[in-house]
Amino acid sequence: MWRASGRPGVPAALRRLLLLLLLATREAAALEPVSVGLAIGAASALTGYLSYTDWYCRFAECCDAERPLDASALKQDLEEKLFGQHLATEVILKALTGFKNNKNPKKPLTLSLHGWAGTGKNFVSQIMADHLHPRGLKSHFVHLYVSTLHFPHEQKIKLYQDQLQKWIHGNVSKCANSMFIFDEMDKLHPGIIDAIKPFLDYYEQVDGVSYRRAIFIFLSNAGGDIITRTALDFWRAGRKREEVQLKDLEAVLSVGVFNNKHSGLWHSGLIDRNLIDYFVPFLPLEYRHVQMCVRAELQARGAVVDEEVVARVAQEMTFFPKDEKIYSDKGCKTVQSRLDFY
Ligand SMILES: Nc1ncnc2c1ncn2[C@@H]1O[C@H](COP(=O)(O)OP(=O)(O)OP(=O)(O)O)[C@@H](O)[C@H]1O
Ligand SMILES: *[C@@H]1O[C@H](CO)[C@@H](O)[C@H](O)[C@H]1NC(C)=O
Ligand SMILES: [Mg+2]
Repeated sequence: MWRASGRPGVPAALRRLLLLLLLATREAAALEPVSVGLAIGAASALTGYLSYTDWYCRFAECCDAERPLDASALKQDLEEKLFGQHLATEVILKALTGFKNNKNPKKPLTLSLHGWAGTGKNFVSQIMADHLHPRGLKSHFVHLYVSTLHFPHEQKIKLYQDQLQKWIHGNVSKCANSMFIFDEMDKLHPGIIDAIKPFLDYYEQVDGVSYRRAIFIFLSNAGGDIITRTALDFWRAGRKREEVQLKDLEAVLSVGVFNNKHSGLWHSGLIDRNLIDYFVPFLPLEYRHVQMCVRAELQARGAVVDEEVVARVAQEMTFFPKDEKIYSDKGCKTVQSRLDFY
């Protein structure tokens, strides 16, 4: 069920009517018990209707375009659950709180998440979805598109473009703060994503629909090499991972992705026109982060955290570069399936 404005509550006009009704009856109360009864009847009918809406939303999912973001809960979730990604944590927190606090955004929020395999891009999208819509990824207002699943055939680009426009138009009309996640952007045929360019731009409305409250998230491995090189440079210079700053990466990342034929954003108008609000880098994960993933997974399964198991699983992973062996090849990706052996 769609509801344009905010929290469940009495719309202003109704509230005024109710007040008038009550005031009027207070004066008449001494004389006319009938009108008192009428007023009470009217009031209870009104509140009855309202609580029906509340009741409905408790069971079916309602889109609440002005649902506020609990920034401190998001911060806590990111800091506790996402390991070794100080940059992503910082940017995502800033981007989401800024966007949700803005009463009148000029364009939808667009984030492009980049990094090596298994470093937490899908994981973070899930955390974001959980904080934006109560039902998270299962919400009717959160849409996940996987390139190889939804747009597999190169010769159907035109069809995909039309489809995507129709879907996004339809879904944003139903719910202004819909969230769209595009996974495996690096496997998306260049050009498909430009179909949604008009939606991401600074327009008040496109075909009668405003997209300004929607959120678009792109995930890809493109740029992972650039990020890894930077992290490695810091490591070799004896500097801490946490010293890597956004400015060390953001510019090279956007240029690198733009010039990468296999980024899904190759020569894309999205970058060209500065329609991506934030490039979010995910650093490659180290041995200690893999350990943390194992511990978290053990805890999630309700098992005791046995450090021997933690070490064994972490050591089974492969690390690169060849000589130093610092970063996990697959990040934390195979931790869950490896744990099944123990
Ligand atoms: N930084 C992290 N902190 C905590 N857990 C993580 C992190 N990175 C990965 N994980 C764990 O590993 C699993 C796989 O990670 P995820 O699917 O998010 O990787 P990805 O970055 O999307 O990789 P790919 O580029 O291969 O799709 C997650 O479900 C999560 O449990
Ligand atoms: C919303 O998007 C989904 C795909 O994510 C699509 O199947 C559905 O038809 C869309 N809804 C509307 C109303 O366009
Ligand atoms: Mg992924």
